[in-house]
Amino acid sequence: MSNLFRPLRLRGLEIPNRVWMAPMCMYSALPEGPEAGVPTDFHLTHLVSRAFGGAGLVMVEATAVRLDGRISPWDLGLWNDKQERAFARIANALSAHGTVPAIQLAHAGRKASVAKPWVSSGPVQKPDGGWTSVGPSPEAYEGLPAPEELTKNDIEQLVSDFYRSAQRAARAGFQVAEVHGAHGYLLHSFLSPASNKRTDSYGGSFENRLRFPLQVVDAVRDAWPDDLPVFFRASATDWLSENPREERIGWTSEDTVRLARELQSHGVDLLDVSSGGVVRDALIPSEPGYQVGFSAKARTEVGVPTAAVGLITDPHQAAAILHNGQADAVFLGRELLRNPYWPQHAARTLGVEPVWPEPYAYVV
Ligand SMILES: Cc1cc2nc3c(=O)[nH]c(=O)nc-3n(C[C@H](O)[C@H](O)[C@H](O)COP(=O)(O)O)c2cc1C
Repeated sequence: MSNLFRPLRLRGLEIPNRVWMAPMCMYSALPEGPEAGVPTDFHLTHLVSRAFGGAGLVMVEATAVRLDGRISPWDLGLWNDKQERAFARIANALSAHGTVPAIQLAHAGRKASVAKPWVSSGPVQKPDGGWTSVGPSPEAYEGLPAPEELTKNDIEQLVSDFYRSAQRAARAGFQVAEVHGAHGYLLHSFLSPASNKRTDSYGGSFENRLRFPLQVVDAVRDAWPDDLPVFFRASATDWLSENPREERIGWTSEDTVRLARELQSHGVDLLDVSSGGVVRDALIPSEPGYQVGFSAKARTEVGVPTAAVGLITDPHQAAAILHNGQADAVFLGRELLRNPYWPQHAARTLGVEPVWPEPYAYVV
């Protein structure tokens, strides 16, 4: 059988296959009032469609641990009871179809308070529901206002926000919590010297830049049931060191290997290997599987289970990534938007019997 359709066991959880839905912001929650951050029927349909389609794990989009952690006013959030109840409906629906419900917990940091991307790539102004973003240093992400620098007290508060949000996610029935440490979001902006200019114990040396992300990992691990896994999504590189004409110093794939070792010793069960996002104008390649090498590097050098993501669109390509030992699973993003049934078709292509919902199975 193709490795793609073999189960993966992490702690006490068996994930039925290794084709997973990547987290993707849908900008489809209400922006304000009691419904802010609450998942709607749109999110339920969007996520459960991919469970019907055969994804072994469905990762809910970046979900803010508090109001100012949303990247846009239309993001999902998990900081109150109403949100928790609505998420429980989604987690239960995914589980009912045999798909592992997973959620990405996030704070957008200095990239927060932006418009829906199909409207503009700029900020949402305060009169229109925007807010002041926060970050490690008052260094703006290109095209956005400078964030407010977080104090040590603010950082402590944020660690407990992640903790409480993870508790809510566990109560809602999610089986995997992923800490969003990529794409220039808050934790990545602490890791990278391109955005972290602090001179206190949260900036400067490699160890200091890791301090806050590892505190968040410890908090989430603490809140999460022992028999269930925690993932961490990292940007393997800021794509600065790969460019010979680039003078800025960023996060590198060597840093990711060192981070992976730390994450493993802090109880992270799988590294979800993405890239980029801390500076707007980095030169990012766009060939199929352009990030897979970084996943392979962390997996081989550290021995940590990894998932690869990025322009994986062909069943044979996905199967080869696993066969070659470059990852333990693949996340698909845009291809699953185009075709929610991709995993079922991929199974057939690779000679594996698809696992349809029971009422479909006897007729398709
Ligand atoms: C519409 C859209 C929204 C996204 N939102 C998130 C997100 O919430 N969190 C995240 O870590 N990555 C996000 N991403 C990145 C995807 O998870 C994925 O890593 C990326 O799209 C590359 O995979 P693909 O080539 O299969 O689409 C988003 C991507 C898209 C296209």
